[in-house]
Amino acid sequence: MRVLGIETSCDDTGVAVYDGARGLLAHQLHSQTALHAAYGGVVPELASRDHIRKLLPLIQAVLAEAGCRPTDITGVAYTAGPGLAGALLVGAAVGRSLAFAWGVPAVGIHHMEGHLLAPMLEPDPPEFPFLALLVSGGHTLLADIRGLGDYRPLGESVDDAVGEAFDKTAKLLGLRQPGGPAVAAAAARGRPGRFRFPRPMTDRPGLDFSFSGLKTAVLTAAQKQALDAQTVADIAHAFQEAAVDTLAVKCERALTQTGHRQLVVAGGVGANRLLRERLAERATARGARVYYPRPEFCTDNGAMIAYAGWLRLRERAAEPLGFAVRPRWEMSTLRAP
Ligand code: KG4
Ligand code: ZN
Repeated sequence: MRVLGIETSCDDTGVAVYDGARGLLAHQLHSQTALHAAYGGVVPELASRDHIRKLLPLIQAVLAEAGCRPTDITGVAYTAGPGLAGALLVGAAVGRSLAFAWGVPAVGIHHMEGHLLAPMLEPDPPEFPFLALLVSGGHTLLADIRGLGDYRPLGESVDDAVGEAFDKTAKLLGLRQPGGPAVAAAAARGRPGRFRFPRPMTDRPGLDFSFSGLKTAVLTAAQKQALDAQTVADIAHAFQEAAVDTLAVKCERALTQTGHRQLVVAGGVGANRLLRERLAERATARGARVYYPRPEFCTDNGAMIAYAGWLRLRERAAEPLGFAVRPRWEMSTLRAP
């Protein structure tokens, strides 16, 4: 089975082709970062319009790169949620229409399921069951992953997602968006020890997270200083330490609680180098191993949707012609195909 995957949930247009026998054949991404830069955040209507402009040419380019004709595609997968309603509708409408025209099945994929399964695209992949840490711009979630579609949440953020905290910190430090890579780059020039921020909810039992207090602490510190380049770097450094430490403490606790020996880290914040180092240290100390997608598959991409689609479609999980998108969608409501 050969699946075309389409991702349009936010500000990246991602397309890929995954082949059951040969693996990933091609993938391409068009980022809208420059388009939204002037507005300090993603403008939903501009995002939808850009997906409309870019999606079909991107699909043609990916098919050409994969060396396949439309008749070689035997299934279509698209992100059906969660995300921006208009942006989701572009991918869903194009994906469904192509599947109808080509006479092949189509399936709507949960965006976070895509992220979660992305490490399985790498050599020496993790095997079910495992512990997963999903860290993106919209989600911070620890879950016990028993099998495809069997996801049991263990803890999540009660307020801001950790990626959102990176983005907001970048904004108030005058750094560019998306904030994660910008804060990480500034932090590399920061001096340890000048600032120290709280590690929210690490002193309490449980696996939930909270990042709004950390954000407020950063805001308070930033307001008290003249924000010269060194101060920005020092604050970024302290923020990154606090955010990463908080995630690492909870991951270690979840490994102990579940007894899992595999920790899968997915979502945009999974690209963070310090997080990778800290998690590796803590996991190794417990005899566990950490799995990541390659950095380009940590952030939004079409490959993860093509792969999740292939997993579901090979179980004959195609859906009827009508379609809906779900801007809000609890991952724990997913079922095995
Ligand atoms: O998974 P993703 O691409 O989109 C969502 O589904 O939200 O994640 C985007 C988030 C943004 O908040 C971005 O700032 C963050 O991931 N991010 C990072 C890094 N690269 C991206 N955060 C920390 N360090 C990074 N290197
Ligand atoms: Zn994402």
